[in-house]
Amino acid sequence: MLVRRVGEGYERTAGSCELLVAAVSRRESPERACMVMLVSDPLQQFTVSMPVTIRLCRKDDLPALEWFGMFTDHREMILAAYDSQERGEALMLVAEMQGFPIGQVWIDLTLERVDATGVLWAVRVFPTMQNRGIGTRLMLAAEDVLCRRGFTAVELGVEKDNLPAKRFYERQGYRVVADTQDEYSYTTPGGVLVCVPTEQWILRKVLT
Ligand SMILES: CC(C)(COP(=O)(O)OP(=O)(O)OC[C@H]1O[C@@H](n2cnc3c(N)ncnc32)[C@H](O)[C@@H]1OP(=O)(O)O)[C@@H](O)C(=O)NCCC(=O)NCCS
Repeated sequence: MLVRRVGEGYERTAGSCELLVAAVSRRESPERACMVMLVSDPLQQFTVSMPVTIRLCRKDDLPALEWFGMFTDHREMILAAYDSQERGEALMLVAEMQGFPIGQVWIDLTLERVDATGVLWAVRVFPTMQNRGIGTRLMLAAEDVLCRRGFTAVELGVEKDNLPAKRFYERQGYRVVADTQDEYSYTTPGGVLVCVPTEQWILRKVLT
């Protein structure tokens, strides 16, 4: 990091977008004049560990499942999945931390492409909480629920360009068994019909 003196303070010259937040007065001592603080400099660092609970989705979770606007357009699909759970056709598992659903997986109990196969979709973990093992725990919980209900296999679709997710599933024993070209559609809360073409790998895992 290069710093040069400008007037009463300092600024970065290394082309970074970090901002100088502390200017140093000439009247202060030379030692103090060397103190430059950037917004990226931590003031304190500490670790917080918090319990995560995987449980069935409740009706009062639904607004929070929109994740502050990320999935507001999917409100209709979220509600439809919840209604399927109410009818006993699907299960929505959420990973809850401090009352907030930081992860989710939906399990369709009716879409069997092959006998006794549960189908997972909407597998996702809140972006800042990814890569901490939560997705893996959600998958294990979904598989456990299916095993207890007598299902012998699990399938899911993953977009062909979503290589990190494909690797995530393969690491857990899922293998490609087919590929599909399909389309799904939904209506946003604003009344716009959105059609989404998909090109997916179908992955399958036999439950033991
Ligand atoms: C795919 C997704 C659900 C995975 O959830 P996640 O909580 O990040 O998953 P995990 O933390 O269990 O595993 C992810 C990676 O972190 C690593 N990891 C697992 N536990 C970890 C830990 N405690 N500390 C650090 N890394 C860890 C795993 O090795 C894994 O690596 P990999 O990418 O090489 O497989 C998540 O990335 C996501 O929501 N992606 C966006 C939505 C999406 O694409 N969903 C899939 C649609 S089909």
